[in-house]
Amino acid sequence: MIKADDLVLPPVAALNPYEPGKPIEELQRELGIGEPVKLASNENPLGPSPRAVAAIKSALAELNRYPDGASYELRRKIAERHRVTPDHIFAAGGSVEVLNLLAFLFIRPGLNSVFSEHAFAIYPLATLAAGGSYKAVPARGGYEHDLDAIADAIDVNTRLAFLGNPNNPTGTIYRRAQWRRFLARVPEHVVIVADEAYFEFVRDPEYPNSLEDHDGRRLIVTMRTFSKIFGLAGLRAGYAVANPGIVRLLNNVRQPFNVTSLAQVAVLAAMEDRAHIERTLEVNAQGMTYLEGEFRRLGIPFVPSHANFILTEVGDGRAVYDALLRKGVIVRPMDGYGYPRHVRISVGLPEENRRLVEALEQVLAR
Ligand SMILES: Cc1ncc(COP(=O)(O)O)c(C=O)c1O
Repeated sequence: MIKADDLVLPPVAALNPYEPGKPIEELQRELGIGEPVKLASNENPLGPSPRAVAAIKSALAELNRYPDGASYELRRKIAERHRVTPDHIFAAGGSVEVLNLLAFLFIRPGLNSVFSEHAFAIYPLATLAAGGSYKAVPARGGYEHDLDAIADAIDVNTRLAFLGNPNNPTGTIYRRAQWRRFLARVPEHVVIVADEAYFEFVRDPEYPNSLEDHDGRRLIVTMRTFSKIFGLAGLRAGYAVANPGIVRLLNNVRQPFNVTSLAQVAVLAAMEDRAHIERTLEVNAQGMTYLEGEFRRLGIPFVPSHANFILTEVGDGRAVYDALLRKGVIVRPMDGYGYPRHVRISVGLPEENRRLVEALEQVLAR
């Protein structure tokens, strides 16, 4: 019998699925650990906004109905926040959906995308799934996007430039001067994707908000998510801001009800919950300061981060990851991102951070 693999493009058959952070329940099943700490997926450790939870509860009785396929209220509110009209907003079931749809639209065999090495794993996956190829450009100093080199890598067949700012898994940012130089150089046939999943965490005064550069001269897609600071990763909601032409194309190829009804009401409520966002920023800033201090004390090199996670060099990253698992602490191994000596640690609640440090200290002392 013919194999299904023979009916798809060979690079697609050769793909491996995205490897997410290990779920808490899986660790409990595998190792019987009572209360694991998960610091593996850059989630909000405070939980969702209570207002979002209340909104979800009151929408439950309507689950027999399809969602609003146009995400009308959601797009209206996001548009208002960014001072654009709603036809500039594409509502998505998580920002990963946007990445996949962009690749589906703009990439095909013979075309390519460019991005930094050590960037979000979905950029190559989405590109390959669409039948294209990619160029992963060497990082500056091993950790930072080199936008000049990324611009150099663009050729006539490049259609997408994926930029993570802050980048996952390094937590590094590129600054305004680099970004502006990049914009001036990128040819018209390239869609610039500014993936700003961690936008709200950044405090650097030179951090560029890519929305300010949607000037109609270049094709820029700004991506934001409700999975991180808004604490709604489990619901799957994110969005893109782009010119109406790109939004229209994205709408042409998405599934008709891509944002669930619960996600729509929850996001509307979470956007109003300023207190939850402020608390999240505080917990993150304090946690980051604590972790940096402890890593210094333990002599563990780390990459200064602008987001809610931190890349640390621990020796054999996979071995340290496994040993931490056995102590009930889930972090993210980084060999798949080209950092076999690192693990990425999400900032947790104070008690979770303490458990991580204690476990790490024991593991590294062995
Ligand atoms: C850089 C980056 N972009 C996008 C995402 C996807 O977020 P979501 O699909 O949950 O919106 C993540 C999640 O970890 C990320 O780190």
